[in-house]
Amino acid sequence: MSPLNACGRAFFALALGLHRWASCTMVTNDTGIAAGKTFDYIIAGAGLSGLTVGNKLSGKGYSVLIIEAGPDASWNPEVFDAEGRMFGSKTCNWQYPAYGDDGKLLPWKIDSGACIGGSTSINGMVWYRPTKAELDKIETLGNPGWNWDNLEPYMVAAERNIPPDATQIAQGAGSSPDVHGHNGFINTSFPTPLRIPGAVDLYKEALPLVFPGLAVGGDLSNRTSVSSASTMYTIWYDTVTGKNRRSSAADGYLWAPNQQRAKLTVLATHVVDKVLFGQGITATGVSFLPANGSTPSSKTFKAYAAKGVILSAGSLASAPVLERSGVGKPSVLKSAGITRLVDLPGVGANVNDQPGTAAYALVSAAYQNDTSIIDNRSLFAPEISLINIDELWPLTAGSFILDIASQKGLRSRAQALVDAGAAVNIFGAGAVLNASIDLITTHRRKLALSIFHLHGGYKATYLILLAVPIVEFLAESGSSTLYAAFWPLVPLSRGHVHINSSNPLDHPIIVPRLLEDPFDAAVAVAAARASRAVFASAPFEDIVANAYYDPPIGPNGTDAEYLAWYRKSMFGASHWVGATTMMPRHLGGVVDHQLR
Ligand SMILES: Cc1cc2nc3c(=O)[nH]c(=O)nc-3n(C[C@H](O)[C@H](O)[C@H](O)COP(=O)(O)OP(=O)(O)OC[C@H]3O[C@@H](n4cnc5c(N)ncnc54)[C@H](O)[C@@H]3O)c2cc1C
Ligand SMILES: *[C@@H]1O[C@H](CO)[C@@H](O)[C@H](O)[C@H]1NC(C)=O
Ligand SMILES: *[C@@H]1O[C@H](CO)[C@@H](O)[C@H](O)[C@H]1NC(C)=O
Ligand SMILES: *[C@@H]1O[C@H](CO)[C@@H](O)[C@H](O)[C@H]1NC(C)=O
Ligand SMILES: *[C@@H]1O[C@H](CO)[C@@H](O)[C@H](O)[C@H]1NC(C)=O
Ligand SMILES: *[C@@H]1O[C@H](CO)[C@@H](O)[C@H](O)[C@H]1NC(C)=O
Ligand SMILES: *[C@@H]1O[C@H](CO)[C@@H](O)[C@H](O)[C@H]1NC(C)=O
Ligand SMILES: *[C@@H]1O[C@H](CO)[C@@H](O)[C@H](O)[C@H]1NC(C)=O
Ligand SMILES: *[C@@H]1O[C@H](CO)[C@@H](O)[C@H](O)[C@H]1NC(C)=O
Ligand SMILES: *[C@@H]1O[C@H](CO)[C@@H](O)[C@H](O)[C@H]1NC(C)=O
Repeated sequence: MSPLNACGRAFFALALGLHRWASCTMVTNDTGIAAGKTFDYIIAGAGLSGLTVGNKLSGKGYSVLIIEAGPDASWNPEVFDAEGRMFGSKTCNWQYPAYGDDGKLLPWKIDSGACIGGSTSINGMVWYRPTKAELDKIETLGNPGWNWDNLEPYMVAAERNIPPDATQIAQGAGSSPDVHGHNGFINTSFPTPLRIPGAVDLYKEALPLVFPGLAVGGDLSNRTSVSSASTMYTIWYDTVTGKNRRSSAADGYLWAPNQQRAKLTVLATHVVDKVLFGQGITATGVSFLPANGSTPSSKTFKAYAAKGVILSAGSLASAPVLERSGVGKPSVLKSAGITRLVDLPGVGANVNDQPGTAAYALVSAAYQNDTSIIDNRSLFAPEISLINIDELWPLTAGSFILDIASQKGLRSRAQALVDAGAAVNIFGAGAVLNASIDLITTHRRKLALSIFHLHGGYKATYLILLAVPIVEFLAESGSSTLYAAFWPLVPLSRGHVHINSSNPLDHPIIVPRLLEDPFDAAVAVAAARASRAVFASAPFEDIVANAYYDPPIGPNGTDAEYLAWYRKSMFGASHWVGATTMMPRHLGGVVDHQLR
């Protein structure tokens, strides 16, 4: 087997001098590159986190081995072409099965990246910043230092923003240099050309009619102001091929010609089985096996880490590695036949994704060939709206807030998560829920009066402080339709992921428990209703033939009808977090604020 060399493409692409070969990153399928060898650090998973950390550590001179279960798929247009991928594609995708509380298989699969680059090789590429309030909240859960002020410099460092041109600006692309990085690793830009400008104009007009107070335009990453805007992506326009290209973590941190590392080795198509522990439960290395293997015990190899082992196999795969290693909830380890080293019941708990679905309006025949309305291009969601509680329920937000903010409600929600195996104890569940509820309820839209001294006189201006949004609303066009996809952004529901056997090639059992919490269900139904109202609004009058095309539930449909449809059609929005929660151990945390 001839190992791939990451400089190969750099050499051909940029015709760099031969001197570059001396320091190339090694990317290979060859088991022998790692078996029995020692590195400073070993990283499980070459996705977003693993490649970033591997790049930084090897850049500081440490020897690093990254073991990745999937292959190199960077040559595949479904990966590198930003518009080359179809929904539901199996390329570079684990398609994990998902289960209900009752153990029954759910009708949808979980998308998750399964090649070098991880999920950044297949994701929607949507790029915008979080709010300060959300990042600061992480710190309040017992994680000193994890706040906006400390993290914002890394957002700047990661990004190389390519500003829109005059045509894109004229078609609604808003860009503010202050909320972007300009010298980083990952390209961000608007697509060339922009998608469905005619429909986007209509969306920009209609959305504030349905969500009163929604500010439209500007830059989506400006989270102190704008809340509906044209979408920026982790892409760049390649003038040679005339195509938009994905800028994945692999492109930025592994293949980039100026990021080659003699001390970084990526072993592809190999699965990390366990972390090996020495005295005092110190990680000393990992065991691993070829991804095409079938009987693990006969084909397992070991590699050793002098300084540390880092698990970055994604939120659904890192917890299973810990469990196979003997770290986890005793009952899970016992039934999988694993010897227990550490009793850590938070492993695999607190799993969380956003429950998504979409509603379609039929476009009238006269507009079905109008490519400014329907373009059959696959860069998802050209206009994104971030809806807060006041915009979702202009008249009744207050009663929902009273409900979710009550101490009694918090206790029973927390107890429900413990009962479902989604949280370790009522204190931990309460802390996590309370943090989310605080974000939803106290960071509301406010008018704050500020007085500026101007030329000796005084001028009053109103400053709108944006709330943390609770719905992400993505505006699209389909075949003969316009449609909206949407999901609650701060769900209170939680699920769990655990191994069912000691075999590292078996899928874990993932129980998402989407939409179990009644507040999530209420948000979901309100978003679904609002999506119909958008297509029934005046701006769409000419071009929409049927605003209630799919699902065929009309304006008088009951909440129960909408909810039943939502549950039937829903899928995970692919934004999984949790399972190895960073939180103090007494609350059910798995790692501390130093990720140990
Ligand atoms: C379909 C989809 C759409 C998305 N859209 C967006 C979007 O538009 N914008 C956005 O910001 N985010 C989006 N995301 C989310 C984003 O891509 C992820 O949050 C991010 O990639 C997670 O990084 P990670 O390092 O935790 O995991 P990943 O990037 O998934 O990497 C984990 C890696 O570990 C490997 N692995 C798993 N198990 C093992 C094992 N036992 N041994 C060795 N390797 C293993 C996997 O193959 C994978 O390569 C999307 C995700 C998906 C799946
Ligand atoms: C590595 O393995 C993958 C998947 O089996 C294969 O497609 C690829 O060609 C291999 N690469 C090398 C250099 O052997
Ligand atoms: C499995 O992968 C290993 C290492 O990449 C390779 O040597 C072997 O030929 C593969 N076996 C099969 C059956 O594909
Ligand atoms: C965010 O948008 C508001 C309103 O348009 C503007 O006043 C402010 O300067 C913007 N902030 C940044 C950093 O661009
Ligand atoms: C970023 O874009 C430039 C062109 O502007 C391109 O040469 C480079 O390869 C891209 N890098 C990544 C990581 O996508
Ligand atoms: C749209 O295009 C199709 C296929 O080219 C054609 O049959 C149809 O008549 C066109 N419709 C309109 C309204 O132009
Ligand atoms: C849409 O694009 C896909 C993929 O490029 C193509 O197969 C399909 O025929 C196109 N559909 C229409 C209606 O143009
Ligand atoms: C809930 O969060 C608020 C705001 O951070 C905090 O003041 C309060 O103590 C928390 N309550 C519980 C029960 O954790
Ligand atoms: C879990 O393991 C048991 C025992 O081996 C098996 O019967 C069951 O089918 C497994 N469940 C799943 C969902 O794989
Ligand atoms: C919905 O209800 C209103 C008021 O009862 C009624 O006027 C209207 O016709 C109904 N619409 C549909 C589509 O059933």
